[in-house]
Amino acid sequence: MQRVGILTGGGDSPGINAAIRAVVRFGYRHDVSTIGFLEGWQGPIEGLTRPLGPDDISGILHIGGTILGSSRTNPFKIEGGVERILGTLERNAIDFLVAIGGDDTLGVAHRLAEHGVKAIGIPQTIDNDIGMTDYAIGFSSALDVITDALDRLHTTAFSHHRVLVLEVMGRDAGWLSLMGGTAGGADIILIPEKAFKIERIHRQILHRQARKKHFSIIIVAEGAQPEGLDGQVLAEAEIDAFGHVRLGGVGQYLANQLAERMEIPVRVTNLAYLQRGGSPSPFDRILATRFGVAAIEFALEGRFDVMTAIHGTKIEPVRLEEALNTSRLVDSGLLYLVDLFD
Ligand code: F6P
Repeated sequence: MQRVGILTGGGDSPGINAAIRAVVRFGYRHDVSTIGFLEGWQGPIEGLTRPLGPDDISGILHIGGTILGSSRTNPFKIEGGVERILGTLERNAIDFLVAIGGDDTLGVAHRLAEHGVKAIGIPQTIDNDIGMTDYAIGFSSALDVITDALDRLHTTAFSHHRVLVLEVMGRDAGWLSLMGGTAGGADIILIPEKAFKIERIHRQILHRQARKKHFSIIIVAEGAQPEGLDGQVLAEAEIDAFGHVRLGGVGQYLANQLAERMEIPVRVTNLAYLQRGGSPSPFDRILATRFGVAAIEFALEGRFDVMTAIHGTKIEPVRLEEALNTSRLVDSGLLYLVDLFD
């Protein structure tokens, strides 16, 4: 009998529970029992645990968020944090650890491997910005919400002849904006990978009006930067334990700039946490289930310091170090989608 510890860190996303369920159920079948650590890395630091038997994970496949709770705790920024984690793992007789999260959570898992911890990562973030995997858990579900939001914005924008701006997440990556905007037929798509010019957007809207299109829908990623502005628009300048500021407000910034130049009303919707909450899409449920199963398989094969990844239809292990050192921003081959129908 082996024992796996599991935790979920960083911003949550729909599908995490499906991955937890798969680890517990597939593990159980292979004589691996699971113990859950609560609140991200805070759990193993403070010894916050809960048993996870097959009965404890019943009925969670379709539920968003994480039953284990999450945090942005960085043990490497806490005095004695790493030693406390090592102590907790020993006390609980943990053979290996599964960490579900984004770059920050997986980065801690990789650094702990240097301290002898046998860790396996499962990528989850709606931003889809983790290297060496085509998809992370959560992206597909967030796209569903964004697409639905754009469909709804279209009907009201059309009725009121308005310019409507939808701000979405993504940090430095434009996947949510680009793919959401493409799926939802946004007229203008703005992403962090390509600085935007207010004057150009203004011209695009006028051009649409000249073609009797009396409304326009703009989707903007929170990290998109207007040319000439020094840096991204911040909701909060304070830096978290992993060195990130909180982005937000570029939609309102853009709307204010456009309103100065135009007669027709410009309004903003910030999709914020709505795009991260709720039930996982079928794609995310399946991906998360496959990742959870693969994590146990990799452990039984003795592969550690790796992350579960999807390449095409195949689930494969990639070295955590390689995933963490590979940037996953929108590549130039997809930039044509930004201006496809303007
Ligand atoms: O999980 C990633 C993410 O959704 C980013 O897109 C966003 O910038 C960030 O989380 C916001 O997280 P929070 O406000 O929960 O710290």
